[in-house]
Amino acid sequence: MPFVGRERELLHLTALLARPPAVVLIDGEAGVGKTRLLRELAVPALAGNCHPMRFPFGPIVEALRNATLPIALNPVTGALRPLLPEFAHQLPLDPPPVQDAQVERHRLFRAVLSLLGSLAPVTLVLEDVHWIDPDTRELLAFLSRCLPDGVNLLLTYRPEDTCYPVAALRSHLPPHIRHAQISLAPLDAEETALLAKHLLTDPPDLWPLTLGVPFAIEELARMLAEGRGCGTPPAVRDAVLLKIEALPVAARRMVQAAAVLDQPASERSLVTVAGVPPEQGERGLAEAVRRGLLHQAAPGRYGLRQPLARQAVYDSITPGIRRRLHRRVETPAEPRGAVSPREEQVIKLAAQGLTNREIAESLFLSPRTVEVHVANALRKLGLTSRRQLPRSTT
Ligand SMILES: Nc1ncnc2c1ncn2[C@@H]1O[C@H](COP(=O)(O)OP(=O)(O)OP(=O)(O)O)[C@@H](O)[C@H]1O
Ligand SMILES: [Mg+2]
Repeated sequence: MPFVGRERELLHLTALLARPPAVVLIDGEAGVGKTRLLRELAVPALAGNCHPMRFPFGPIVEALRNATLPIALNPVTGALRPLLPEFAHQLPLDPPPVQDAQVERHRLFRAVLSLLGSLAPVTLVLEDVHWIDPDTRELLAFLSRCLPDGVNLLLTYRPEDTCYPVAALRSHLPPHIRHAQISLAPLDAEETALLAKHLLTDPPDLWPLTLGVPFAIEELARMLAEGRGCGTPPAVRDAVLLKIEALPVAARRMVQAAAVLDQPASERSLVTVAGVPPEQGERGLAEAVRRGLLHQAAPGRYGLRQPLARQAVYDSITPGIRRRLHRRVETPAEPRGAVSPREEQVIKLAAQGLTNREIAESLFLSPRTVEVHVANALRKLGLTSRRQLPRSTT
């Protein structure tokens, strides 16, 4: 698939990596294109991924396993034999064991350092360090303090999932090692249209639903290409649901309340609709914002950032909980008449005589979601039937 945009980031990254030693951190939300950007780089690299299972030294083993080892290696690299049995015939003999575990560990770290030095020029790429294991984390702290000439370190991570203090790594770097942070934003509307054009013959505007996240654009385009016109693409839905499931209950209820309200709402409104005690709601809101599920759309008002995510959350709420959340909206949490932009879109079409199914198809929503939007909008406008709509919305 053609690569879209990112010219500035690619140039910056290439320039940084051309003069090792450098440490580069790339952050961006899930699916924004961190891995894809790296795939466009034309520099020698060894890449390993961190996994949620957090295997000890997992990403380092994965990266080094792809190396082509030089003939002459420092004897200390023999300490890598237990981690890299694939290279048993190429690595020097394992050095004699020592009693002290910390000495063994230091030897192992020196072995990685020495092996990387012998592979220079090279960039060690560790992806998704929000899932870094404690051993690799310690090794990185060691490596970054004495990065050999000719070796770069490049780490990617999702800020919303990170508990790995990348700031600490940066602050401990010796002054001679250059470092940079590249934050990847979603594609803009024009780039989104360009990517959509590569994926579909006559694409609709995918920006409003995807907000420029390439993963969401690809998945939505795939769904449209297969003729499945409405709803959330399964891969996007699954990613959102995994995040929701990982939240404490109060945070989850706050996110569900935001999905039901479908417009940025105050903390008080969210707490009311979520039906949680205010202190738990406050903590839940902070957690949901930290995990990137909710964002502050306007001062003091929070909502789900991506329409596709909102729909996935809404559709995932079990009927009983959904009824309860809606009942709490009945006592208007938001001022009457505050019709959300999405509700506005829906009732405009309803006013033109479109059925819920037709509206759903034209806006890539599920009919159930449209039904809720129509009901909410009517209530906010003080109307009792959609037949009253044309006069009130024009
Ligand atoms: N600039 C781009 N042009 C075209 N396609 C892109 C671009 N950026 C990303 N993509 C595509 O979008 C999808 C998601 O991108 P990618 O896997 O790089 O995201 P990521 O930021 O690494 O996500 P994660 O945090 O889940 O690892 C991939 O299929 C990728 O090829
Ligand atoms: Mg990635």
